[in-house]
Amino acid sequence: MLRKIVFPAAGMGTRFLPATKATPKEMLTIVDKPLIQYGVEEALEAGMDKIVMITGRGKRAIEDHFDISAELELNLRAAGKHEMLEKISKLSRKTTVSYVRQKQPLGLGHAVLCAEPWVGNEPFGVSLADELICSPHGSAMAQLRAVFEKTGASVIGLARVPKSDVHKYGIVKAEQEGDLLRLTGMVEKPATEDAPSDLAMIGRYIFTPRLFELLETTPSGKGGEIQLTDAMALLAQEEPMYGVIIEGQRFDAGNPLGFLTANLVLGLENEEFADDLRRILKQYL
Ligand code: G1P
Repeated sequence: MLRKIVFPAAGMGTRFLPATKATPKEMLTIVDKPLIQYGVEEALEAGMDKIVMITGRGKRAIEDHFDISAELELNLRAAGKHEMLEKISKLSRKTTVSYVRQKQPLGLGHAVLCAEPWVGNEPFGVSLADELICSPHGSAMAQLRAVFEKTGASVIGLARVPKSDVHKYGIVKAEQEGDLLRLTGMVEKPATEDAPSDLAMIGRYIFTPRLFELLETTPSGKGGEIQLTDAMALLAQEEPMYGVIIEGQRFDAGNPLGFLTANLVLGLENEEFADDLRRILKQYL
């Protein structure tokens, strides 16, 4: 039932200029894979294999990445590089990705609404790929899915953040309901004194299709944009909505510091060169 997932990928990546002037931020590389591939693999692990990317101008590289590259595959085969060939071709053959263009940068809520004709009247996931989450306890999306299977309700991925960071995130109001965390409201990027908690939304969502109807009439909010958080606050008034504090390592890889941290941490976990990297880094510390 829950197989569709939306990747909003139309943003201009202003937090990461000049790197993102001609390269989509979703294509920035963590160790040896672009960020968006981590997101797609996480979704596949959660059984969400019908993927729609919301893209915009200058995002063609994403389409090429998930397409089959016949020429490259031919060359790798001829060169006997079978392992790399398998790596390259497996993902593009396993996934069906559709692309919808967000013609104007009207905000995350608007980007998600662009997927409505494709998703239709079904529950669906949303994943923000610049939040990279690595979890040994089942992918972040799989952790959300487990609660969705139990409740049939919208489920949101959360993490505790320091008070000084609440202005960077959508922050939820939550109350315990048995062993679940019921969400009763949320605010987009509040000032420290207005934050309802220290629980931030970290770019992983499962929604019932009612969200689309609410997005259609959601007025512009913070920053003059149609905010996903505002439509979610309306949804939480109408239907039960739950939060999951996600277990795993999380990197906000959409800015240079988070991106570098992700590269180093995942590099230090890489079987092939972790020891070499450790040795090299020691020279600089
Ligand atoms: C978006 C959402 C925000 C969420 C954040 C997670 O903000 O609007 O609610 O907490 O992603 O990364 P952005 O970082 O795109 O400004």
